[in-house]
Amino acid sequence: MGRVTAIDIDQAAAVLRAGGLVALPTETVYGLGANAEDAAAVSRIFQVKGRPASHPLIVHIAGAEQLDAWVKNVPEAARLLAEHFWPGPLTLVLRRGARVPMEATGGLETVAVRVPDHPLALALLEAFGGGITAPSANRFGSVSPTTADDVRAELGDAVDFVLDGGRCEVGVESTIVDVTGDTPAILRPGGVAREDLEAVLGHPLAVPVTSGVRVPGQHPSHYAPRARVVLVEPQKVIAEAEIAVGLGHRVGVFLPAAFAGAPVKAHAVLEVPVSMAAHARGLYASLRELDQKGCDVIVASLPTEEGLGLAIANRLRRAAGPRTTV
Ligand code: TXA
Ligand code: MG
Repeated sequence: MGRVTAIDIDQAAAVLRAGGLVALPTETVYGLGANAEDAAAVSRIFQVKGRPASHPLIVHIAGAEQLDAWVKNVPEAARLLAEHFWPGPLTLVLRRGARVPMEATGGLETVAVRVPDHPLALALLEAFGGGITAPSANRFGSVSPTTADDVRAELGDAVDFVLDGGRCEVGVESTIVDVTGDTPAILRPGGVAREDLEAVLGHPLAVPVTSGVRVPGQHPSHYAPRARVVLVEPQKVIAEAEIAVGLGHRVGVFLPAAFAGAPVKAHAVLEVPVSMAAHARGLYASLRELDQKGCDVIVASLPTEEGLGLAIANRLRRAAGPRTTV
């Protein structure tokens, strides 16, 4: 990571004011940011990502106190969650305020908002003064970037400025909670655990398999590396990998922690860390690494779906999903 100075922050803020795109680090993944109130700049995000215009973006703001400037009708549950988890990997879906252009919400009357927990993201939001719409800084459908180099590899010259904030701490995207209905609902599991949300709200939360709105993160094949991802039970990972090798594939393996050190005849073997936080932090980097090593098959297993394990399992399932949707 290069040292980022106040001059870089000012320059990035100037790029946003001029209608340009800035890749910025957050605690989850890198975002591809634009001035949330500049419809033309927001439209450019969709072009650069190759993302259909109907898929809504997240507006990033500097603090919970700014929430009322961007949305209408903030229910008590939203205030409670914002107070507990912001800055942090939680996105709240609320009623759209007049300030948010339709381009950012894909035509929806709701808007997703979050306060990122990264010093550079917060410094940029302060210097810029407005809201920053930012999807993950990858091409539509591919693996989210967790380093500035990943962003450059994904987007190259299409982005006007890259703020290098080192490796993202959390490694998977924010948890998205819809607070527009009678009871809050998780739309996408992510960096804040469902159990932690439930502890604050005082009631259980449903994790729907599909939601009523079009959530690109919920397409079957999303967060996907080039290699085909095959999911099997932990105790079958080694055998499955060796079968694929036997069939002539270049095989990458996510070796479950319980089998650490076991010999595996495969092209590349990455041991899954015992800690879920470490597993999440390294997940996308590992998928990218196996792609870079030329693997055409990745054999992995799902973690227990508790805590961050829920988000990891969700992303691995998406990565393994059918590739037929856009
Ligand atoms: O951690 C994150 O959330 C990262 C960082 C950069 O903040 N951002 C991110 O953005 O993952 P993106 O665009 O890749 O995913 C945003 C998700 C999409 O699945 C989108 O459909 C959903 O948020 N979303 C946005 N606005 C929504 C709305 N009004 N209703 C329902 N879902 C919404
Ligand atoms: Mg994304």
